[in-house]
This record gives sequence, C-alpha cells and structure tokens, in this order.
Amino acid sequence: MSLTSMAPAPALTLPAPYGSCPYDPPPAYLEAAAERPLTRTVLPDGSPCWLITGYPEVRAVLADARFSADARTPGFPFLSPGQRELATAQPSFIRMDDPEHARLRRMVTKDFLVKRIEALRPGIQRIVDEAVDRMLAKGAPVDLVGDFALPVPSLVICLMLGVPYQDHDFFQSLSRTLLDNSTTHEQAARAHHELMSYLARLAADKQQKPGDDILSRLVARDDLTPQETASLGFLLLVTGHESTANMSAMCTLALLRDPKQATLLRERPALIPAAVEELLRHLTIIHLGLARVAKEPVEIAGTSLVAGDAVICMLSTANRDAGLFGPEGCTHPSQLDLTRDARRHLAFGFGVHQCLGQPLARAELHIILETLLRRLPGLRLAVPEEELEFSTGSIVYGVKALPVSW
Ligand code: HEM
Repeated sequence: MSLTSMAPAPALTLPAPYGSCPYDPPPAYLEAAAERPLTRTVLPDGSPCWLITGYPEVRAVLADARFSADARTPGFPFLSPGQRELATAQPSFIRMDDPEHARLRRMVTKDFLVKRIEALRPGIQRIVDEAVDRMLAKGAPVDLVGDFALPVPSLVICLMLGVPYQDHDFFQSLSRTLLDNSTTHEQAARAHHELMSYLARLAADKQQKPGDDILSRLVARDDLTPQETASLGFLLLVTGHESTANMSAMCTLALLRDPKQATLLRERPALIPAAVEELLRHLTIIHLGLARVAKEPVEIAGTSLVAGDAVICMLSTANRDAGLFGPEGCTHPSQLDLTRDARRHLAFGFGVHQCLGQPLARAELHIILETLLRRLPGLRLAVPEEELEFSTGSIVYGVKALPVSW
C-alpha cells in the first residue's frame, strides 16, 4: 500500500455541495450521518468544526447550556464573512445566551403564544384569500413565490409588528442579502445597518404616534434601550417572513410533485396539521444547520469536546433518523409520507432557542395549504421541473421562483 493511499481522507469542508436531488440534504452530510453521529469537518476559513448529524446528539447539544449560541464566544463557527458580521455586530437574541437571551425573548413571548396566534387566524385567512384573488385576477401563469408565498407572511408580520407593508421591496431584499451565504462582510454590514436604522426610525415614530402593534408596545417600555427595540424588530421582521415564505413554496412544490398525497389532503383536510409536521421534517429548510460553540469540556457520543470547539447541528440529517421516523414497516424517512407521525422533528430547532414563531408559522402553513388545495384544485407547474432553481447558498433553503398555472 502506498503512503498516499494510507493518508487520512481530507476533512469535509462546510458547507458541502448539493447532489442531484434538490429536495435532499447534500450527500456528504447523509454519508457522514450514516457513519457516525459527529464528524470532524473544516469551515471555509480552514478552522475545524464538528458536524453533528445524529438526532439524539443534535437534540442534546441544542439543549445543553454548556454550548453557546453567542457568536462573540471564542471558537464560534461562521460559514461566511457575511454571517460573521450579522452575528457579531449588534446581535439580536438568537445570537445571545441566557440570561440576556431570556430577558429579550420574554419581551415578545406573549405575542407568539398559540392562543394569541389562534385569534389571528381569521385575519391570516383573509390575507391568504386576497392573495389568491390577486393571482386569479392576474391570470396564469404566475410566480407562486413572488405573487403569493412571499407577500402572505410579509403582510402578516408587518401587521403584527406595525411595519408599513409598502416598504416590502426594501426589507425583503435586505433580508435576502443578509441570509445569503455569499454576501461579503461589507454587503452584510451595509444591509444590517440600513435595516436597523429603518427599524430605529420606525420605533421613534411610534413613540410619537403609537399603534396597536408589537413595536409600539416595545418602545413604550422603560426597560429596553432604543437599540434593543430596533434589534427585536429586526429579528422578528426577518425571521417572520423569509422562513415561512420559503417553506410554503417548498410545501406547494412537494404536493405538486406528488399528486396522490395532494389528493389525500384535499379529500381529508383534517390531515393538514399532521401533514405540515411531515413537510417540516422532510424539507427542513434550515439547510446550513445551527451553529454553537462549547464553553467548557463536554462529551458527545463518546467524543470529548473542549472549550472553544465549534459545532454545526445538522437538522436535516437528524430529521431523517430511521429509528425515529422510519421504524420497520414504515416509509423510509428520505420519502415524504403525509401519514407519518413526524411530531418529534427538529425543523424548528430545540432547547432555549427553539423557534419563537412556530405557532405563527404553523397557522400560516395550515391556512395556506388548505386554501390552495380548495381554491386551486388544478394547480400545476407551468415549467418543466428541471428548470426550477433553488437558493442553495441561503441560510433558509427554498425555490427561487415557482411558475404555476391552474
Ligand atoms: C428561531 C426555524 C418561522 C421567529 C428558529 C430556529 C429555527 C427556526 C430552526 C432556531 C435557531 C437556533 O437555535 O439557532 C423556522 C422555520 C420557520 C420559522 C422552519 C417556518 C417554517 C418563524 C416565524 C417567526 C420566527 C414565522 C416569527 C417571527 C424566530 C425567532 C427565533 C427563531 C425570533 C429565535 C428564537 C431564540 O433565539 O430564542 N426558527 N422558523 N420563525 N425563529 Fe423561526
């Protein structure tokens, strides 16, 4: 055997490239997951990072306070210079540890409780119906992303926050820039500054002329600095529209590709809530994983990590755990099966940072799917599937445009 053939294989560099199937996580992640629950990898800047792919291990890391979500902690992993800028300059609570994280999250917890969101359902239904009316009036083909999936959650979060929807081109394009992994440090700094300044101005206006919205309530508090208020608004505005927009377009595409399962839902709409959990599991749109760093020594699946060890928790591979989601006799977890019990998926994360907006995302997805299936029974792709392009370089995965007719 030659020396070269004995050399250890070079470590996998994150993020790994996608394979031929745009609905599957990159093959390198699936291969790593099949071998072991954590794998040594390297980040684009050459620094080492543990890729956590197993379901129990991802859950354990996300629930463990010995891991930090604060990007200023030494060793924190960044997939790009733009992400470093976004996470470290004036971070929002998604990039903080407790007790700071808990103090700021508490300011908006009530607004996203299931009970509060249930009361918003009629308003969300109206927004969805009006978006369908506009598509019908425009006539086929339309781009389901630009004409429906993006406006619906944007309108909802604008109403909740008190952000004028007419500014949607401005905040949607800045959000896209910030979530794109190819964004440079300078571009991210500019986009972050522009959006934060916009929210700070809006918050200041609300101090003079308060409305019935989250931002007005936040500026009236005396335990938040103006910068903290702007940063809360920033986090809710960006997370509130972009993830649901991508998820609803991907859900629609998944159903268009699988008419049998779409028919099942059309005939039995009561299955929609469970189907949404399976779609969340199967699509797991946060494809680049969740970043954390060890603050002290910790053992994961028999491997000792030391303080400063970076980890990326891969939700997409955890959500394909065969023992949990595809026990013997059931469909393999790589398949979409709307009758599967997928409730334990990790698409919204886990632990103290678990998605604050999940009741809202669920309500929106339930209403969107039910309405599209009922009002547009002939919905179909208006271009060959191979022509669709996916946002492979974004923190939030999705289809860039979805031309449809009916
Ligand atoms: C956090 C996914 C919709 C607000 C998260 C996290 C995930 C996630 C995986 C955890 C991040 C981490 O641990 O580092 C999703 C998906 C969505 C969605 C898949 C749609 C299908 C929403 C919506 C909102 C929202 C509609 C509304 C404002 C948040 C916030 C956090 C968060 C504020 C930070 C929570 C914290 O750090 O305590 N989301 N999200 N998300 N999400 Fe969502």
